[in-house]
Amino acid sequence: MIRLFVPLLALALSTSASFLSQTPIAFGAGSSSELSSTPFGDSPVRVLTHESHPEHSLIINAHNSIEPLVKGDQPSLADVCPGATSGYTGYLKSGPKHFYFAYFESRTNTASDPLVLWLNGGPGCSSMMGLFMELGPCTVNEGGDSARENPDSWINAANVFFLDQPIGVGFSYSTNHSAPGGQGGTFAASEDIYAFMRLWYKAFPESKSLPFSIAGESYGGHYIPVFAEHINEMNKIATPDEQIPLESVLIGNGIFSDAKQGSSSYDISCTNVTGIGPLLDETVCSRMSEAVGRCEYLLSACHDYPDPLICQASAEFCGEELDMPYVRSGRNYYDISKPCDGYLCYPIINSVTKFLRTDKVRNAFGVDPEAPQFQGCSNKVGEEFSKVNDYIIDTRPYVAALLHSGIRVLIYVGTYDWICNFVGNERVFGSLKWNGMPDFRYQQENNKQAWSGGLWWESGLLRYVRIHGAGHMVPWDKPVEALHLFKAWLEKKALQ
Ligand SMILES: *[C@@H]1O[C@H](CO)[C@@H](O)[C@H](O)[C@H]1NC(C)=O
Ligand SMILES: *[C@@H]1O[C@H](CO)[C@@H](O)[C@H](O)[C@H]1NC(C)=O
Repeated sequence: MIRLFVPLLALALSTSASFLSQTPIAFGAGSSSELSSTPFGDSPVRVLTHESHPEHSLIINAHNSIEPLVKGDQPSLADVCPGATSGYTGYLKSGPKHFYFAYFESRTNTASDPLVLWLNGGPGCSSMMGLFMELGPCTVNEGGDSARENPDSWINAANVFFLDQPIGVGFSYSTNHSAPGGQGGTFAASEDIYAFMRLWYKAFPESKSLPFSIAGESYGGHYIPVFAEHINEMNKIATPDEQIPLESVLIGNGIFSDAKQGSSSYDISCTNVTGIGPLLDETVCSRMSEAVGRCEYLLSACHDYPDPLICQASAEFCGEELDMPYVRSGRNYYDISKPCDGYLCYPIINSVTKFLRTDKVRNAFGVDPEAPQFQGCSNKVGEEFSKVNDYIIDTRPYVAALLHSGIRVLIYVGTYDWICNFVGNERVFGSLKWNGMPDFRYQQENNKQAWSGGLWWESGLLRYVRIHGAGHMVPWDKPVEALHLFKAWLEKKALQ
């Protein structure tokens, strides 16, 4: 999920492009640390600390798919979320910051299946949307009173945890009211993610032997390359037993470069590249066509000279000329085949919100009483990202750095998305500056291969997959195909 207009219209007026000067900050490379309480004695809760991260602690509640977490009338996690396996919910605490997570063991082989961290985008959208709408063990029913088992959950093939980040999103919160969330944008969050992973492995050393991947969608095209590259950099200075076994990243319908992707709303709206276009009439499209060149020029000017004056102008021009005509048509921004119906265009989003606002679900999922009422996406967090110009960060160099470090990259894109569409994604990856670029571009132009869900191609460590007829949230629209491509990727197999 990505918030509408954010990439193009909500750029900030702040004068400093502070992201340009951010560099990873090294944590002390400490060694041993003690569990501060006996794991799972009488209490289902344990608290972990790590001497390298003195400001952090991890609070873990075990949930068991059979035993209720709280004895008595309280429903267990699996009662409210049918299909849930055993696992944990909890918080990573860092000073006033509390990051919520929910973890589920693989339905197949928890001791050998990979470990996957799932992140929704926004910025400001909760990973609980991914859990309860897309790929978690259960899916919320229409109306929001209950949930049903998701037979195509990604936990069929991996141990998966869902993390709400940054602070201020979903069930994650801060007790510091001067910094309620999103401050500092993507780079600030990457340090917390790294600390979270270090504490995770301290808590669950057995998961160190499992290949680790970070997966997500949409604004995940910003988060994941930056977070993964931060882990990768930290691994280079960590001792072997402190290294995080990062193996791959998976990004669905991502936004990597506004400059490269911004004008592609023309292609989706005004051509038949989707197979169901054009979507807008000829007079509207001829005006849009005239604006494409100028929009691209302005976006690249903002990219090269990230001054708020230039970026604001380019955002306004491209938004008004290339995005508004589509938005006014009343179609869903995330799925061109559907009308925009309700909050964020899908009725199911209100159902998930209603479900997650009940005490029954909050208790079963170990949500702190202090955590705010659930919201699918936080506008306040989005505004904080605007203040540091986070939207115009170009994450392509981070993707290239991952590929050069031997980390596999999967890009998958539903062809019916409008907001982070496949045309823009293919412009990004057909021109990505890395060693494998010439061959990847050749594959993209000349050697697309068919699979049951659409087309795909790859070169070296970079694979690109189109899912025909899926919108922005691929596992919601095409659950069987999404699980199929996820499994093939983890098993390092060709797609069939
Ligand atoms: C709370 O947030 C403000 C603003 O970012 C910061 O200056 C202050 O140090 C924070 N306090 C704590 C206890 O973290
Ligand atoms: C768009 O493409 C689809 C699939 O190739 C085709 O069936 C359809 O007739 C095309 N529509 C137009 C208006 O050309």
